[in-house]
Amino acid sequence: MHFDPIGRVPGDPILGLLDSYRADPNPAKLDLGVGVYKDDRGQTPILRAVKLAEQRLVDSEQTKSYIGGHGDAAFTAALTQLVLGADSPLLAERSGCTQTPGGTGALRLAGEFIARCLPGRSVWLSDPTWPIHETLFGAAGVPVSHYPYVGAGNRLDSDGLFAALETIPEGDVVLLHACCHNPTGFDLDRAQWQRVLEIVRQRRLLPLFDFAYQGFGDGLEEDAWAVRLFAEALPEMLITSSCSKNFGLYRERTGGLIVLAAGREPLENVRSHLAAIARGLWSTPPAHGAAVVATILGDEALRQLWQSEVQAMRQRIAGLRTGLVEALTPYGLSERFAHIAHQRGMFSYTGLTARQVHRLRDEHSIYLVDSGRASVAGIDAERLDDLASAIAKVVA
Ligand code: LMR
Repeated sequence: MHFDPIGRVPGDPILGLLDSYRADPNPAKLDLGVGVYKDDRGQTPILRAVKLAEQRLVDSEQTKSYIGGHGDAAFTAALTQLVLGADSPLLAERSGCTQTPGGTGALRLAGEFIARCLPGRSVWLSDPTWPIHETLFGAAGVPVSHYPYVGAGNRLDSDGLFAALETIPEGDVVLLHACCHNPTGFDLDRAQWQRVLEIVRQRRLLPLFDFAYQGFGDGLEEDAWAVRLFAEALPEMLITSSCSKNFGLYRERTGGLIVLAAGREPLENVRSHLAAIARGLWSTPPAHGAAVVATILGDEALRQLWQSEVQAMRQRIAGLRTGLVEALTPYGLSERFAHIAHQRGMFSYTGLTARQVHRLRDEHSIYLVDSGRASVAGIDAERLDDLASAIAKVVA
């Protein structure tokens, strides 16, 4: 048989958990695996701004013909403004955005671009990082290396990070998480970002920002601070932006790869390659999510409604972080897990070992990624005590 020799590969470390969770008959199960926001009722609702935009689109959409290779121009312009700032001079001069199927598609496009146009360059990833970074750059044939990010005692290792960045060969690509680092939730402060910028400049590295959680850290504008700092200081960079989380458009696969080049001419050169690569990957991007985002960002009332919904999601996650630390207090664990309240975004690197994570899954039907990453955004506020009690049992 043709298929006999192929064997079987392990399931995806994150999406595979979702399958196990769905198959678990325990009514008290808790899903803290995949990064999906849930509200007080454990639902991942469609944002009201999205519903209203969709209703408008149903009435006004005239065609289902293809959108262009770089995507919906209203969407890519609006997304670039959201990322770089509405009044950024870079918008007109030397930035371009190619619409992609989600942030994952943008990363794959960036990987293929590096493999094709910057051969021999490695991509440097934080250790740890989102495991799919390894998958995507590996699939594109780009060599992958790592810089340290978390040190002893489950703390951000900024000294280790700076020292490693200083050894990266000139010209290599360094992937930086713009905010809400996945999986750890540890973000750099502004002074640390300035230091990274100095090193990137000295070593002539090409920064690739993964910007998947804009609005989930400190605010839509605040979370873009590092990206804008680098964009204004450097002639060239790549930014992958996702609308999965902040617009709740997960399954609509909506995102973009933003390129900054030294001028119009080199920008159009890069974009010609991106269009050619995208044609070979997905031909043209899916239209619906992008039309929704363009509708929201292009209408003042919808934009304001959306901003208030992003704020509500962010505040709920922050409340869950402090709530979990409080729930752990009666077990004498508040200091050990104090970092959960200080981390940012959907995820917390709890510091739980793979063995403890497995016990949570097997004995309590609580699902976390093996690395000890918990999707705080998936916690049910009414179940914080159950979660704390289960954690206390597995760390005892
Ligand atoms: C996650 O890390 O859980 C999310 O980014 C979803 C995904 O695609 O893995």
